[in-house]
Amino acid sequence: MDLKDFMSNPDHDALLKDLWESHASWWQAGFTGGVDAEYTEQILPIIRERVGGLRLVLDVGGGEGQVSRAVAEVTGGMAVVVDPIVSQARMAIDRGTPAALGTAGDLPIATASVDGVVVCLVFEHVLELDRALAEVARVIRPGGRFLLLLNHPILQTPGSGLIDDAELGERYWRLGPYLKEDLSVEEVEKEVFIPFVHRPLSHYLNTAIASGFRLLEILEPPPPPGFLARADAYADSAMYPRLMVLHFGRES
Ligand SMILES: C[S@@+](CC[C@H](N)C(=O)[O-])C[C@H]1O[C@@H](n2cnc3c(N)ncnc32)[C@H](O)[C@@H]1O
Repeated sequence: MDLKDFMSNPDHDALLKDLWESHASWWQAGFTGGVDAEYTEQILPIIRERVGGLRLVLDVGGGEGQVSRAVAEVTGGMAVVVDPIVSQARMAIDRGTPAALGTAGDLPIATASVDGVVVCLVFEHVLELDRALAEVARVIRPGGRFLLLLNHPILQTPGSGLIDDAELGERYWRLGPYLKEDLSVEEVEKEVFIPFVHRPLSHYLNTAIASGFRLLEILEPPPPPGFLARADAYADSAMYPRLMVLHFGRES
C-alpha cells in the first residue's frame, strides 16, 4: 500500500485504531506475561540495563505495561503507559501500571516533565513518526534519555525474507526495496492484521538528531536462544538481527 494514498484517506487514523483495538487481546496473550522469549530473554533485559537513575519514565505505546513494570522494578521510581487503545490502557492499570490514553504524536504530558522515554516496538507501526519524535523530545527534561526499540528496518523491508532455493542449493536473505518508505498491513496470524510502516534507518536517526537527541549507543543483537529454539528453520536466522535498539541522550 502506498503511504501517500493511505494518508490522503480522511479516515486513516480511525482505521488504524480499529486494527489495534481488535487485536489487543491477541498481543496480550502471545507476547506479555512472560510467554515470549524475545521479551523475556532479550527486550526486557536490554531495557532494564539502560534505565538506571531515571525516576519518572514514560512508556509510549506501552500497551498492557510489561515494559513499564520492568522499568519500575529497576528504578524504584514510576513508569507510566501512554497508549491510544482502551483495552491496552485498561489492562495496564489492572496489572498495576498507571496509564493514560494518547497517541505518540500528541502526548498528554507536560513539557520537560519526565526523566526518560521508552518506545518499544511502536514507531514502526505509526504514521506520525516525525511528530512523535518531536513529542518525545518535548516531554523529556534536558539531560534525560530515550530508548527506542524497533523491529530491525532491514528485516522488516517489504518483500524481504529467507529464501531456500533447492535448485541452486542456496539459502540466502532476499532484501526488498529498502529505501522505499511504505505502509503494509500484514496478516501476522489468521485474521490478525497489523500495520507496518517501513522506513530506512537513516530516517529514524536523522529525525531523532534533528529533534534534539544525541546517539549514545546502537544495538543489533542476534535473536535470543529461546526464539531460535522455537522452530528448526529459525536456527538459520541466527545471524540476522530482528531487533534494533537506539539509545539517545536529550541535549541540554
Ligand atoms: C507491538 S505493541 C507493543 C506494546 C508495548 N510497547 C510492548 O512492548 O509490550 C504496539 C503498541 O502500540 C500502540 N499504538 C498503536 N498506534 C499508536 C500510536 N499512534 N501512538 C502510540 N501508540 C500506538 C498499540 O496500541 C500497541 O499497544
